[in-house]
Amino acid sequence: MVGSANLDLVVDVTTIPLVGETVMGGDLRRIPGGKGANQAVAAARLGCTVAMIGRLGDDEGGQLLRQALEQDGVDTEHLLTTAGVANGVALIAVAADGDNAIVVSPGANARVTGQDVQAAAAVLASATVTLLQLEVPTEAVMAAASLAGGTVILNPAPAPLEPLPAALLAAVDVLVPNQTELATLAGYDGPVDLDRAATLAHQLPCSAVVVTLGAQGALVIENGDATHVPSPVVTPVDTTAAGDSFCGALADGIVRGLNLVDSARWAVRVGAATTLSAGAQPSLPTPAEVASRLD
Ligand code: RIB
Repeated sequence: MVGSANLDLVVDVTTIPLVGETVMGGDLRRIPGGKGANQAVAAARLGCTVAMIGRLGDDEGGQLLRQALEQDGVDTEHLLTTAGVANGVALIAVAADGDNAIVVSPGANARVTGQDVQAAAAVLASATVTLLQLEVPTEAVMAAASLAGGTVILNPAPAPLEPLPAALLAAVDVLVPNQTELATLAGYDGPVDLDRAATLAHQLPCSAVVVTLGAQGALVIENGDATHVPSPVVTPVDTTAAGDSFCGALADGIVRGLNLVDSARWAVRVGAATTLSAGAQPSLPTPAEVASRLD
């Protein structure tokens, strides 16, 4: 895992504020998060052996995040502490229907370099799966993709502001965008339903694409075939980190030798179970919790 770790500052609100609007919310909660750390913890809770490569701030948030990862057994040897720099922070509003809006201040995550990743080359070379996202600099993501010995999964989140380098997409084995990220990557400016998702995913220069579709589950595009994997029907409490747990579970499935469609079947269950509990890392389920929350 090469990625970000954020301290999530979370407030529950009735509805997400509109531009220019102020809304009153509940008490502030401080929760371990960040797409990289969430995906690392998600995979670890499902039983994978996980190492995290990235940077924390040298503040209290950084200490809290390191402890959270280590409690879940994630190897933090290559998670560096950056002197004089604040940790990444995410400001999150969670609405009554479980939807959220997030603003990230990257802090130490923006200091992850290609050299940091190179220092962990042996870990990447031996990993069965390397999971990547876009909350750390593209230079670091590219270094990781080129050093990875196993399957490279890229979750292109948050949606990139500029086109991703062709060399990065070429090094990715499985791309896992949501509908917004897929539209951005494909240069499409319109609504993305199931049919449109299949069309756009086919246009991307990746051998396999798994599009996450929220309540509709996921769409797996591999070798020219499109397979829709529906989600269990749930009433979400908090959708934060549902995409991260999907990615962690997809990696877990691949590590256990499942094919991509069966890995996606497992991942939609894990993602749906994640929405039934609040907060990023606190909501990430073990296999037993997936069963107990859904069945
Ligand atoms: O995907 C959810 C995560 O996005 C949050 O934990 C927040 O830190 C942001 O990175």
